Amino acid sequence: MNLQTLQLSDSPHLAEIWNAACGANLAINTRFVDYNLRHTPGVIQTGQVAVDNDQAIGFVLASIDLDHPQRPAWIDAMAVRPAWQQQGVGSALLAWAEATLIDRGARHIRLGGSMRPFSPGLPIELGTRAFFEKRGYSGDHRDWDVARRLIDYQPLPIAVEAELRPGQPGDEAALRTFFQREFPGRWHFEFETFLREGGRLSDYMLLITTRDVDGFCRMTFEDSERPLERFFMHRLPRPWGQAGPLGVSRVTRGKNYGLAVVDAALRHMQSRGIDGCVIDWTSLTDFYAKFGFEKYREYAMLSQGSLDE
Ligand SMILES: CC(C)(COP(=O)(O)OP(=O)(O)OC[C@H]1O[C@@H](n2cnc3c(N)ncnc32)[C@H](O)[C@@H]1OP(=O)(O)O)[C@@H](O)C(=O)NCCC(=O)NCCS
Repeated sequence: MNLQTLQLSDSPHLAEIWNAACGANLAINTRFVDYNLRHTPGVIQTGQVAVDNDQAIGFVLASIDLDHPQRPAWIDAMAVRPAWQQQGVGSALLAWAEATLIDRGARHIRLGGSMRPFSPGLPIELGTRAFFEKRGYSGDHRDWDVARRLIDYQPLPIAVEAELRPGQPGDEAALRTFFQREFPGRWHFEFETFLREGGRLSDYMLLITTRDVDGFCRMTFEDSERPLERFFMHRLPRPWGQAGPLGVSRVTRGKNYGLAVVDAALRHMQSRGIDGCVIDWTSLTDFYAKFGFEKYREYAMLSQGSLDE
């Protein structure tokens, strides 16, 4: 077995290895891997493929945001084909990734949750927490994906004094101003990525008050620029859709706007025929229970290194 630098052309191998190691419920495809290997401004992403007899048997992908050194670095994803597990391959890949990130200045390394995430954290169902704990990763925090069918979704009986509509060409500047003001971190970054990659404005449900955009809920469909495979929806009936993140301006909180914008997004997806729906990467399970969403997948948020940055 030897380790080789991961190339963009390795994406079919990465999808195959991931699917073999993680199973049908977490299956991904080459389009999703290609999307996550695209360049992200400020972020260095690097990886290795473990090769045995000319066959790719494992990989690790790691990244670090040099523009935001306060952020942790990430192990984006790693997997080893089942027939090659328990032979030191995963340990070698992880050790390589950690050394590379530390060399780039990382002091805190997180499993999953990168700027182009494969998953928010470690999916509990993989049963591999002990592997990472033995290698210094810890963390009590858990996040969830929640899900429900939309075929029988009943709108929430709430009325707000605001317009709710999907975004449309021309809304870019108002949305950018909103994100810069209210959510200047990951959600603003994701909006800029979405624009750069030709996303369809109607994938953002907007809440518009008298002063302009004051809230949003993002949606992903099978034909969106962001691959829906990211949300691991295989146990749900098709057609699939995803909602989230959502947010409203600080000064407008406590007026049911959050409920209203999610409800509008769900109704919009329902009107487009979506059935299986996931709201991903959240700890607000009680909030989404108001819409009938139930826990669907659990993630352990594990990291290692200094947390004092
Ligand atoms: C997690 C994962 C990558 C580990 O890969 P791996 O190649 O099996 O890892 P290793 O062989 O290095 O280590 C596994 C165990 O085998 C042991 N081992 C290492 N070399 C060995 C050998 N020659 N013979 C027998 N056992 C060995 C290690 O000590 C380790 O045991 P420990 O965890 O109790 O210390 C792999 O299980 C996997 O692909 N899982 C699914 C995907 C996943 O969970 N990814 C994380 C999400 S990003």
